[in-house]
Amino acid sequence: VFDVKIASSGKVIKIPGDRSVTAALEEAGVKVPTSCEQGACGTCKVKVLEGEIDHRDKRLKPEEKEQGYFLACVSRAKGDLLVLDL
Ligand code: FES
Repeated sequence: VFDVKIASSGKVIKIPGDRSVTAALEEAGVKVPTSCEQGACGTCKVKVLEGEIDHRDKRLKPEEKEQGYFLACVSRAKGDLLVLDL
């Protein structure tokens, strides 16, 4: 379990262990576009402003990871909080 914070609104949303970030956000009314939901297509790419990412996709290039992007349909947090540029 970890939290994500939406930078634009300040809203904090809990991500349970059995839910993806995109699914939990959608339930909370924050829509992130998705397609494959398997970490392969890149549609759900979101920039992370703060927090350590646990990358679980098979798509992002090393430079995209360096720039702080993650694929929200599969990737998670290593710590307690990610702040998303949404
Ligand atoms: Fe395809 Fe996330 S929806 S990588």
